[in-house]
Amino acid sequence: MFDQHIRTLVVVGAQWGDEGKGKLVDVIAEGADWVVRYQGGANAGHTVAIGGRSFVLHQIPSGILHPGVRCAIGNGVVLDPDTLFEEIEELIADGVDVSGRLYVSDRAHLVMPYHKLLDGESAASKQIGTTGRGIGPAYEDKVARRGVRVLDLRHPERLRSLVESGIAHANTQLAAFGSSQRADVESTVDLLERLAPRLLELADDIGLVVSRARKSGAAVLLEGAQGSLLDVDHGTYPFVTSSNTTSGGAVTGAGLAPTSIDAVLGVVKAYTTRVGNGPLPTELDEPLASEVRRLGNEYGATTGRPRRCGWFDAVVVRYASRINGLTGLAVTKLDVLDTLDRLGLCTGYELDGETFTEFPGDLVTLDAVKPRYEWMEGWQKPTTEARRMEDLPSQARRYLDRIQELAETRIAYISVGTRRDQIIGL
Ligand code: IMP
Repeated sequence: MFDQHIRTLVVVGAQWGDEGKGKLVDVIAEGADWVVRYQGGANAGHTVAIGGRSFVLHQIPSGILHPGVRCAIGNGVVLDPDTLFEEIEELIADGVDVSGRLYVSDRAHLVMPYHKLLDGESAASKQIGTTGRGIGPAYEDKVARRGVRVLDLRHPERLRSLVESGIAHANTQLAAFGSSQRADVESTVDLLERLAPRLLELADDIGLVVSRARKSGAAVLLEGAQGSLLDVDHGTYPFVTSSNTTSGGAVTGAGLAPTSIDAVLGVVKAYTTRVGNGPLPTELDEPLASEVRRLGNEYGATTGRPRRCGWFDAVVVRYASRINGLTGLAVTKLDVLDTLDRLGLCTGYELDGETFTEFPGDLVTLDAVKPRYEWMEGWQKPTTEARRMEDLPSQARRYLDRIQELAETRIAYISVGTRRDQIIGL
């Protein structure tokens, strides 16, 4: 993917998350010098399968599995220090050496125990179906200018006073929710003081470090989490996450300039899934929904929740292509469709005799629309051994051609299994 023209590449999800970004980042990171996560936090679950083993990364960039690649958690991420060190320890136990090549932005905001408490207790979080990782409350504090950043750990007095005001606010909210739970200053400060030396050792001005690396020719991959339809501005608001998951968020969240992006790869499944509540226009009915969930093992990597499954929605992907400026698509999990006899491709939405081909921002409209499908013949042959486009059954090639046409974006990769080698590069 990287060449003399493409030195900074963004990888984003172009649906509702869980598109297989972890695998794509792992494959592309082979040619990268740096991989930077730019938003979200431990709500993400990026799965990478190597040599019969499966790694699930929540906060650490998926590039960490390549020994020569440097990885950074950018300023746009809300960082949970407790689970970060658990993740580091798991990697070390699995033989992955992270020392000297994992960095954290000193400007990243911290997810505190009280953010997780608030996420678990608020009715709004339950209605949205959040991952419960404290993401929304941490971003709320960031925007309200009440947050605690990694660099605050350098100043114990200041840290204590920030924690005190954060907890005063959190406890008022918990009381308003009718919760009997309360956050505690001493245990929070103790936790942070215990983790501070290790976290500060990883801390740096990532925007500056990566900009310097770019100047000296480094290949930089900016790894998005969640998906474009979960973006707080462009997604199915309020059923979204609390960050800008799209390519615009990549530059603010990594500390780079907008002009530094050379290419944007959108990752999509060959069908659609969503975990949590909110609109999913092409959602399948039973028993097909359970069948696709079983075939694709569609259970959340972070929460284990069953994912909702739907046909491929070209309205969604064309929209994602526009807002991200996609220069290519990676279509994943094609093999999951191998046994189905026919496949639906959504080309537009119908409402009151009218057809929409642009994704509506209004949830009331979105709830009322009926998808318009083009039906395509299934291939009913295995695709997991295909390594070139010519190896795929003709029906699968037609399906992919139609996706490319409807999404108005060229396909650059097709993934036909979880392993690194199960990929077709075009
Ligand atoms: P939060 O990010 O935990 O606040 O959750 C907000 C919404 O985003 C919920 O619908 C979650 O299910 C969804 N979400 C958050 N992270 C992911 C992810 O990594 N994959 C898929 N959905 C996610």
